[in-house]
Amino acid sequence: MPKRPTDHPADAASARKSSPASEPALPVLPPLPDVPTALLGNLTPSQFMRRYWQKKPLLIRQAVPGIESPVSREEFFELADQDEVEARLITHFRNKWQLEHGPFAPDELPSVKQRAWTLLVQGMDLHDDRARALLDRFRFVPDARLDDLMISYATDGGGVGPHFDSYDVFLLQVKGKRRWRISAQKDLTLHAGLPLKVLQNFEPDQEWLLEPGDMLYLPPHIAHDGIAEGECMTCSIGFRAPSASELTAQFLYHLAERGESAGKPGALYRDPQQPAVDRPAELPPALMKKVGAILAGIKWNDQDIASFLGTYLSEPKPSVVFDPPSRPLNEARFIGQASKSGVRLDRKTSLLYNRRFFFVNGEEMPLDGAKKWLFDLADHRRMSAKRFVTLSHDSSVTARLHEWYCAGWIQVGELA
Ligand code: SIN
Ligand code: CO
Repeated sequence: MPKRPTDHPADAASARKSSPASEPALPVLPPLPDVPTALLGNLTPSQFMRRYWQKKPLLIRQAVPGIESPVSREEFFELADQDEVEARLITHFRNKWQLEHGPFAPDELPSVKQRAWTLLVQGMDLHDDRARALLDRFRFVPDARLDDLMISYATDGGGVGPHFDSYDVFLLQVKGKRRWRISAQKDLTLHAGLPLKVLQNFEPDQEWLLEPGDMLYLPPHIAHDGIAEGECMTCSIGFRAPSASELTAQFLYHLAERGESAGKPGALYRDPQQPAVDRPAELPPALMKKVGAILAGIKWNDQDIASFLGTYLSEPKPSVVFDPPSRPLNEARFIGQASKSGVRLDRKTSLLYNRRFFFVNGEEMPLDGAKKWLFDLADHRRMSAKRFVTLSHDSSVTARLHEWYCAGWIQVGELA
């Protein structure tokens, strides 16, 4: 495995400051599993996963020293005004919780001078390359589990109320200060009749004031409340954990779509033996038996599971729209450009693989033999110019990458 630089965010931050604005910063790679990293309080990702992941909270002072918010307050408010952006406004004025969904025109947001409101934008990684780069630092957890990066902006006293989440979260302070109070309480009863999840009885057992660069990791179901002390911005790196019922429903749908359920796909129910009835409302026992036999005959194998998971997990969120280049380069020009500057996955692209297939933005494709380049592109989300050149003699590779470029799934240039 090629040696990667250790993740030292301080270096990354100073590199960013010293480089001219037009020069893109080098991507900060996720820490390697067995290399201690400031991001995790000098634990290695392996140690963190063993000791804390899904188990207990961890406060990390200066996880990302010198961090700046991926977007400024003004850029953030502009995003919240866009249709495809999932924005929520939570106010706590005169002791009353209120929730509104965006988009929000600038005059629909309270004044930044007003206390106790917060604006949340989900999926920031889909809208901004810097947010995507920040999310990528957490890829020591599999992509299949990584969900999104949310940013919250709050005025003094703002927050979303004491609550718990069903997912793991890293809460990274990127601007101003926020006081977090947490509790391992068992009583997770929520206030009835509120538009958001607020705990009825919150009894914090730990409390910290987080400053820019500090981060709090919380496993699912730890009660928490973060209140801004002055204006602040916080990034939440969230994870996905579909429920068993959601997975079952989606898997059965996937099997049905592929026509792989038992019996002849599309075969209609037939009942040539059905006698005439005098109780028409009763479910016919023969129908029960037949349907029971169809359901009992549903079969699947490991590849069906992989195929379902790969397509389901790489499926873009409903709001995602790719931006194909308005005047795409033809294949020869694309090869010329990519040979000079490499390629990278678009921030919205999801590319997963197993040993036989790869899954890109909800589509399954066979690997057709060993395709190391595809594994590497998926794992690093970029391909260097040098690597592209060595692969460019294979027209099946360049044709595929050109097709993805035309779809807006990849971008020319290794750096955003
Ligand atoms: C926030 O950033 O205000 C809320 C994040 C959370 O509690 O999960
Ligand atoms: Co939360």
